[in-house]
Amino acid sequence: MTRPLAIAPSILAANFAKLGQEVTDVTAAGAEWIHLDVMDGHFVPNISYGPSVIKALRPFTQAVFDCHLMISPADPYLEAFADAGCDYITVHAEAGPHLHRSLQAIRALGKKAGVALNPATPISALENIIGDIDLILIMSVNPGFGGQKFIPAISAKIAQANMLIGDRPIQLEVDGGITPETARIATAAGANVLVAGSAIFKGDGVDDYRKTIDTLRSSALEGRR
Ligand code: DX5
Ligand code: ZN
Repeated sequence: MTRPLAIAPSILAANFAKLGQEVTDVTAAGAEWIHLDVMDGHFVPNISYGPSVIKALRPFTQAVFDCHLMISPADPYLEAFADAGCDYITVHAEAGPHLHRSLQAIRALGKKAGVALNPATPISALENIIGDIDLILIMSVNPGFGGQKFIPAISAKIAQANMLIGDRPIQLEVDGGITPETARIATAAGANVLVAGSAIFKGDGVDDYRKTIDTLRSSALEGRR
């Protein structure tokens, strides 16, 4: 089964002084998803933004809001991210002792439930709960910062996730160090959603964003062939 390809710009690398415009521009440039990196300075060594910023951005685009929670605990905040207009809410498998409960809580809020895995966490952590997952996010860098290098060994892990997913309607997302060079590695292994922060937002404005998104997409499509 070929899942539709989506490019998901991470606004972590955008200009925070004009985030609404950035979201509008990157959507106009062809992004299907917007990736929202939430960091708490506790689960990861960096702080970004929270649900009130996401809520303020919701009117600027119809794109899928893909929320990546790098926070611990996550459960007390799930409702706030659902209310903010997130479509996918992804928690880290390492963020708490009761991953399955978090996934159930996300679905109970009417949202799609995602699990993110740090580089060291094996795919086998998901085997017994795969029926309760709508998205698997494979970290191809250590979470916390944009602009890091894609870890090459992660391509084998993406392929393992793809095997586990089989025909199930589960998105397979890769996050970290995605460039025109690594996009094809990720899709060759089976990924269908590619997060890109610094690669896209190193430019400025719709024309720059469109060029990079088009290049990422053609590399990603090559990887699928
Ligand atoms: C890292 C974040 C990523 C990051 C990607 O913790 O989850 O989404 O912003 O940034 P780049 O594309 O620059 O690696
Ligand atoms: Zn992310």
